[in-house]
This record gives sequence, C-alpha cells and structure tokens, in this order.
Amino acid sequence: MSAVLPAGPMAGAVEETTIAPAPDWWQSAVIYEVYPRSFADGDGDGVGDLAGLTARLPYIAALGVDGIWMTPFQPSPQVDQGYDVTDYCGVDPLFGTMEQFESLLAQAHALGLRILLDVVPNHCSSEHPLFRAALAASPGSPERGMFHFVQGRDGQTPPNNWQSVFGGRAWSRANPDSATDLDWYLHLFSAGQPDWNWRNPAVGDYFDGVLRFWFDKGVDGLRIDVAHALFKADGLPDSPSEGGVVDGLRSNPQVSDQEDVHEVYRRWRTIAEKYEPHRLLVGEVNLEPARAARYTRADEMQQAFAFAFVKLGWDPEAWAAVGNELEAARLEHGAAPTWALENHDIVRSVTRFGGGELGGVRARAALVALLGLPGAAYIYQGQELGLPEVEVPVEARVDPMWARGGVCRDGARVPLPWTENAALSHGFSLGEPAAEPWLPQPADWGSHAIELQEQDQDSALNLTKAALELRRQLWKNEVFTADDGGSWRVEAGNLLICKRNEHFLVAVAMGTEPVRLPAGTVLLTAAPLEQDGWLQPNNAAWVLR
Ligand code: BGC
Repeated sequence: MSAVLPAGPMAGAVEETTIAPAPDWWQSAVIYEVYPRSFADGDGDGVGDLAGLTARLPYIAALGVDGIWMTPFQPSPQVDQGYDVTDYCGVDPLFGTMEQFESLLAQAHALGLRILLDVVPNHCSSEHPLFRAALAASPGSPERGMFHFVQGRDGQTPPNNWQSVFGGRAWSRANPDSATDLDWYLHLFSAGQPDWNWRNPAVGDYFDGVLRFWFDKGVDGLRIDVAHALFKADGLPDSPSEGGVVDGLRSNPQVSDQEDVHEVYRRWRTIAEKYEPHRLLVGEVNLEPARAARYTRADEMQQAFAFAFVKLGWDPEAWAAVGNELEAARLEHGAAPTWALENHDIVRSVTRFGGGELGGVRARAALVALLGLPGAAYIYQGQELGLPEVEVPVEARVDPMWARGGVCRDGARVPLPWTENAALSHGFSLGEPAAEPWLPQPADWGSHAIELQEQDQDSALNLTKAALELRRQLWKNEVFTADDGGSWRVEAGNLLICKRNEHFLVAVAMGTEPVRLPAGTVLLTAAPLEQDGWLQPNNAAWVLR
C-alpha cells in the first residue's frame, strides 16, 4: 500500500470527526454496512447484537467512514434474517432493547458517525399483526385489502404465473385447508414475507408513521429495501418472461418500476426534509442505470445504489460501459452514482474477482478505485479486511433463498474475525461462555483477523483507512466536488481510466502486462509501484494532474 500526500494544504492533518452540519453531507459520504447478526455478539449467544455493535463503534469510527447502515434488527421471526418484520418500530430481543438502540445512536453520533436503518416496505412478516388479522378475516375484507389476496384461477392454481425471487411460486394459499376461502396471497420473496398492497392508501399512511418514528429518534436516514417493487401492475397480469420469473436487473412491467412508486418517494423526501439536517433516503433500486436514476430525481431519494456496477467481474470494458451509462443518467437526472462492490446479498468481491491471492489483490484495487469515484460509496463489513466468500457447509446453511432453490447468501454473512485466536469465535463474542456463532467460521478465519491487520502496514484494513483519509482531504481541499462526473475509457493494455474532473483520475490495470500511467502525481495505489509511472496488473492508482 502506498499513500503519498503532495506538499501543500492537502498534507495537513485530518480534522477531528464531527457530524457535519451540511444538509447534503451524504454527497461525499462513505457508509459502512453493518449486518448486526455477524458484527459483534455482546451477550455471547452466538448472534451479533446492539450491545456488540455499540462496544465496537470505535473500530468503525477509526476506519474514517461517515456513517453506518444497519440491516434490520426489528422484531421478526428471522425467516429472512430480519427482512420479515413484525413490528417496524421495535427492537427484536435477539438484538437487544430500544434503550440499547438509543444508546448506540447517541454513542455513534458522539463519534461522528451517522446511523441509517433499513426499512422494508415491500413486504412484512406473515406474523405481522396486520397480516394475521388479514388471514383471520374473510376474502374481500378491508383487512385483506392491505395485502394482495386474490382468488386462484380454479381453487388450485395461483392467480398468475409469478415466481418468487427466492425460487418457487410467488403465491401461497391463505387457508390451505378451507373449501370456501380460495384466496392466495402474494409474496415476491418467501411465504413468510407477504407483499403489502401499496395501492391501498392505508399502507402509505402506515409507513409515513414508521419514517417519522425513527427520524424523531434522530436516525439520520433509511436504506429502502426492494424500493422499485412496491407497486405491481394493475390486475396482476402474468409475466411474459420464461417461467414467470420476476427478478432481474431490468425493468419488469409486472412487478417493478411502476410509475406510481415515485409518488411514495416524493412523499418520503418531503418527510425527510422536515428534519434538520435532512434525513437521507438510499434505495435498493435494482434496475439498469437509466431507470434507477429516476429514483434520485431532485424530489425523490438522494441516493440509489449503482446495482449495474455491484456485480461486475474483472472486465474493464464492462466497467467503462456501466460507468458511462451511470454518468449519462447523472447528467439527465442530477444525482451522482452511489457505489458499492459488496453487500450482504452478493458474493464477496475477493471471490468474484478470482479468489485466493489474485482475488484479494484485485478486490483491494477495486476498493481503491471505488473510493476515488465521484459520488458516495458503501463498504460492507469485512470488505475492509479482504474477506473471501465462505463455503458454508450445506447442513449449516440458513438462507431462505437457498432453501427455496436459489443461490446461498450465507457465505458473505459469516461472523467477523476480530482475533487470530479462535477463542470466543475469533473475538466475535464479547460475552462468556460464547455459544457457537450462528454461521460457522472457517478454519483459516483467524488469518484475516482485525487485530492482525491493525498491526500490518500493508493490510487491506490499513489500505482502506489510508484511502478514506485521503478521500476526506481531497474533499476538504475541493479536489473532489459534488459536481464531479465520471468519464470512463479503456486504454491499450486494458488500463481502465475514470477521469473524475480536470485534476483527478482513477486508473486500474485490468490486463496482464504493466501499463504506463497517465502523467500526474500518484497519490495512492492499492499495491506499491514497482516502477515509476507504470502500473502492474491488478493495481489501481489515484492520479492528481
Ligand atoms: C435484502 C435481502 C432480502 C430481500 C427481501 C433484499 O434486497 O437485501 O437480504 O432477502 O430484500 O427483503
């Protein structure tokens, strides 16, 4: 790793972290995604929790990020690890108490970290009181009107051909044993996650209350789960795609990207702007760039993840094509892309980029590149350690997607290794005795431990910190600005270039031979330069011109 600060104003010390008063703080932000189950276990029951996260907040603050996005910890039967909520305004005892959350929030703010929560508006848990009431009520009742209850075609065949994102059909019978209740209910995910009917205004009112509840508490923003799919096409027509599949990185006229959904985000933005500083809305909008960008128009969300980029392999042409598409979308709609390479749903970048040492080197280069791009960025816990995807033994897998025949996402969710020593689940558990972690840690997990990486100048962890510190200084010195855009190209030798502005570019050597870097001062590289002005394969550089 090498971070060179040029002489002059940028060489100054980094300022103390404090919550910036700027209403548009999110434009330059880097947010760290915490999957609470797997971050730190305060009470030693094998599942990470709020106490564990609170105890480990100084680690996150020391990374130099601006905030934390916490995936769901609200009451839930945990069918989909919390993405099946029974009470949107509570805390599941598995994770702790509301008092513990309030204390976490206060301590995070004191450390200069903002807190974003996950809101899951597409569906709830089948144990949610409103869904229980709907099941108990009769077909056609107002209770059923909160969800999509529809009579099957002939009592046995579901109302349409839609398939669940997790595999299998997207419908289940309301009362399978009843001869008179022939309703089915829609669940784009598991049967334990019934979809809300957003064409019913009562659903919108209910979620307004959820937003206000958390914003009143001082939560800084919300990540919106499956944000593009709340509205389904009127009449719930069959999907023309093969097998009725409804997911995918594309607009799907049956289940996603309906025009009506934008009204929800206009309303939510109005709510978010009633608070000072304005609250942030970041959407999981799994659509191609031109469509996703419509969710970040001036009066909708401030951010939507650049999903087209999230899953790319080591392919410079693909990076440049997606980068330029995102830039075109920014020019049309005004919001810079929100970058991520990893999250709790996808295969770790080390593994995606080839696995082993090669994957590790590439993942570092990709992270350095990402942090130099114009727009906000999200890092998923463990990405800063270069964790690979874990091959979780089949008998230990718990992901409902796997159970329904889809891919298994558990490999990106294995509890973090804090210590080299395996005791207390490599330091994941802070309480004693420590129960087995909810997903098993592999035998070599200790080699990635945070305590080791903190001592190693060349570790992925210290590279991430150096990149974040330099990024902060470049913003402070206005080398980076909110108006920056990305102009992407691939040069001879598969050198990927993203020119951020007249003064700054990111270069990634994605070929097999060393390539000459564009002229300028090299501020940061993912691995040391072996020869001045030349970038070795799988290295990335920030160049000041
Ligand atoms: C979340 C997943 C979850 C799904 C259903 C997603 O996009 O990130 O973890 O399974 O929504 O809520």
